[in-house]
Amino acid sequence: MKLALVGTGYVGLVSGACFAEFGYQAVCIDKDVSRIENLKSGKCPFYEPGMDNLLSKHLKDTKLLSFSTSLSDAISDADLIFITVGTPSKRLDDEADLKYVWSVANEIGKNIKKYSVIVTKSTVPVGTSKEIKKIIGNLVSDDLFDVVSNPEFLREGSAIDDFMRPDRVVVGTENKKSEKIMKELYRPLYLKETPVFSTSVETAEIIKYASNSFLATKIGFINEVADLCEAVGANVQDVSKAMGIDQRIGSKFLNAGPGYGGSCFPKDVKAFFSTAKKFDVDLSIINAVHKSNQNRIEKVANKIINFVDNKSVLSFLGLSFKPNTDDIRESSSIKLANYLSQKGYKINCFDPAAMKNAKIKFDNFNYYNSAYEACNNADAIVIGTEWNEFRALNFYEISKIVKMKKIFDLRNIYDGSELERLGFEYYGTGK
Ligand code: UGA
Repeated sequence: MKLALVGTGYVGLVSGACFAEFGYQAVCIDKDVSRIENLKSGKCPFYEPGMDNLLSKHLKDTKLLSFSTSLSDAISDADLIFITVGTPSKRLDDEADLKYVWSVANEIGKNIKKYSVIVTKSTVPVGTSKEIKKIIGNLVSDDLFDVVSNPEFLREGSAIDDFMRPDRVVVGTENKKSEKIMKELYRPLYLKETPVFSTSVETAEIIKYASNSFLATKIGFINEVADLCEAVGANVQDVSKAMGIDQRIGSKFLNAGPGYGGSCFPKDVKAFFSTAKKFDVDLSIINAVHKSNQNRIEKVANKIINFVDNKSVLSFLGLSFKPNTDDIRESSSIKLANYLSQKGYKINCFDPAAMKNAKIKFDNFNYYNSAYEACNNADAIVIGTEWNEFRALNFYEISKIVKMKKIFDLRNIYDGSELERLGFEYYGTGK
């Protein structure tokens, strides 16, 4: 099978490289010339464990993966064309901005030569795939294509594993012909007994937003429970554990912290709410989750402000929105650091992967080469992202270099009593 993937962001590149791993020929297309040039020489534009190896294997050894800036060349003999462009939030409202999707649909319509399945993998509001069908259908005969919704559920930091071993594959189709082709595409996973879930196009589109919004709801919920735990002296980690053992609830995504971030949850929660509004449906729970998450930064900041004077030095450990990524989009740690910087605190920071990205946007932080260097002279340490390398820091050594022994462990990666024995004042989240 020959595949073309339009858009070399997370979803497009990881999917392209993993499809090549399945043995398919995949061309990844992007308008961005320098991005494509870098990719041709095996340079991944983002940090993702395993991606460099996969790129190099399929670019150089198997030659199943290639890159191009020409959509017309790449799609001319493709059996499946994936739309994997970004769908950011619009500037002035909460809706998803679909301008890249429309533009790709137009280009496909102008260049399609033989029957292809057009697969939407970008996260798009319900109704988008139908609209794509209209756009292409206005340019070519309906016999030349089918439109399918095949949302992606991969997480940054474990994207390859999520693609190769997903809990399920969702395929929304309008007819048996395209459903059969999609089943064939995912046969390597089907053989590993991955459930392939066939639905209508609209259902598939909603599954994606409902899944992300539900996970965001779990996080928002436990974060508010954490606030109550703090107020009454309970421990949210024990609450989560005991709740999570109940299989109806499940233990995942019940870790309290500084609020969810990243390029998906914040924008998808907003877009889900605003799509429903267009159909006169009030997703009030989703709206509350969004507001609660927005308020979280100020709440967490106030906790720090209450215990540390402004103009103090705060050592921020972790800037990415979660571990194993260099992505700082909507990162709670960065938002918090920036908020406190505006209030007069001096921010010294370290992150194992995200400093390059942070430096471009935040010249109000001081960047250091290690957690220890960043902690030098600190009035308080703030653990904003739970990178593994922060889980076993030598706090005996750190206690000798900080000015004040205070630690805000926003991700609950330490047992407070151990640090208290070294003389630290320890503040976790919800405990
Ligand atoms: C999320 C979903 O998990 C993926 O299934 C989905 O495919 C992806 O969005 C997408 O739509 O493309 P991702 O944004 O990579 O993946 O990150 P998550 O691991 O879901 O974490 C999102 C945020 O929630 C992070 O800021 C993380 O720190 C926070 N989080 C997560 C918590 O605060 N507590 C938790 O228990 C779990």
